[in-house]
This record gives sequence, C-alpha cells and structure tokens, in this order.
Amino acid sequence: MIRKCTKDDLTMMYAIINDAAQAYEGVIPDDRWQDPYMPLDELKHEIEEGIVFWGIEEDGNLVGVMGIQDRGNVVLIRHAYVQTKRRNNGIGTQLLQHLEGMTKKPILIGTWANATWAIRFYERNGYYLLSRSETERLLQQYWNIPERQVVTSVVLANPTWGAANTAAGGNMQ
Ligand SMILES: CC(C)(COP(=O)(O)OP(=O)(O)OC[C@H]1O[C@@H](n2cnc3c(N)ncnc32)[C@H](O)[C@@H]1OP(=O)(O)O)[C@@H](O)C(=O)NCCC(=O)NCCS
Repeated sequence: MIRKCTKDDLTMMYAIINDAAQAYEGVIPDDRWQDPYMPLDELKHEIEEGIVFWGIEEDGNLVGVMGIQDRGNVVLIRHAYVQTKRRNNGIGTQLLQHLEGMTKKPILIGTWANATWAIRFYERNGYYLLSRSETERLLQQYWNIPERQVVTSVVLANPTWGAANTAAGGNMQ
C-alpha cells in the first residue's frame, strides 16, 4: 500500500533512510558521509522545508520512502530510500511512479555522482543526466545544499523538463 507519511512514521522513516543510506558508505566522498547519514533533526527540518514523504507499507511496516518537493516551476524528488533487504523488488519504481502521477511539472532529481546504481535506476525510469553547467545552476537554484555537495552531485530530469526547456528556448528559470 502506498500512502503519505505522517508524524507517526518519523521513527520508521528515520530507520529506513539510515539503513538504506549505508549504501553510500565508502562510495560518496568521506567528508560527506556520517552515521547516521540523516539525523532525526535533519529529517524533521526537511519536512518543515516542504518535502512531503510517501511510503510503501507491507504488513503494517514502511519498507521504502520517497519525498516530493514543489519548487514552483519544477518538482524535486528527494530522499529515495528502500530498506536494504527489500531492494530490487520494484518498491522504488512504484514510489517514483506514484509521485510522478501527482504532478505535470518538470521533475528534477539530484543524487551523488558516485551512486551509479541510483543514476541507473532513474535512467531506467526515463530520466536523463543534465550537463555539468546546468546541474550546478539547478542545484544552486532549487536545492539548499552545501557547495561541496553541489560539486559531487548530478541532476537528472524527466522528458517534461526537456520539453519545457525547448519550448522556452532553453531558458526556463
Ligand atoms: C535507489 C533505490 C531507492 C531504488 O529502490 P528499489 O526498490 O531498489 O528499486 P526497484 O526495485 O524499483 O528498481 C531497482 C532495480 O530492480 C529492478 N526491478 C524493478 N522491479 C523489480 C521487480 N519487481 N523484481 C525484481 N527486480 C526489479 C529494476 O530493473 C531495477 O534495476 P536497475 O536499478 O538496474 O534499473 C534503492 O536502491 C535505495 O534505497 N538505494 C540506496 C539509497 C539510494 O541510493 N537512494 C537514492 C537517493 S537519490
């Protein structure tokens, strides 16, 4: 069952995120890794900043979460995490498709440049990597992340982004 996460889910969300984020250890730059990867206060802060989390529940427990954040012209998919033991079972795809169904706006997704599995996951779902200059411009415009994370991240976009930018003469702000 796909459902919106509530305050009551915070503990479970925290557990899923920090279990799934173990995948980053030794992969993302050491100075960006911490354990827990996302402290509870940071998760709460992200929700206060307007990220709405959805989750998939199996037998009464959340097994994956994914956030969506409306940023005006575009929508961002943020913090996609599936429990390590439930990975590669289509949960991430189901969540992504559900969030995609909630908007007609262009969708952008940022992830670590070294997280090749995540990039492949999004590419299989129809997203494509943006150029370095566009990536840095968009990360600075729509995300609120430190400069060090900007230079170690990539941005992927869905075809709606491409269509909107072509229609706007490549100058959509
Ligand atoms: C990235 C992530 C969210 C994807 O979630 P997931 O549930 O594992 O994704 P899916 O199972 O839908 O798809 C993953 C793979 O399983 C395959 N798959 C999809 N449905 C499947 C199914 N029903 N049965 C078996 N395999 C399936 C897909 O082909 C996909 O392969 P690909 O990655 O080579 O494209 C998850 O791997 C994760 O939490 N990773 C660690 C954290 C992370 O990197 N997050 C991204 C942050 S932006």
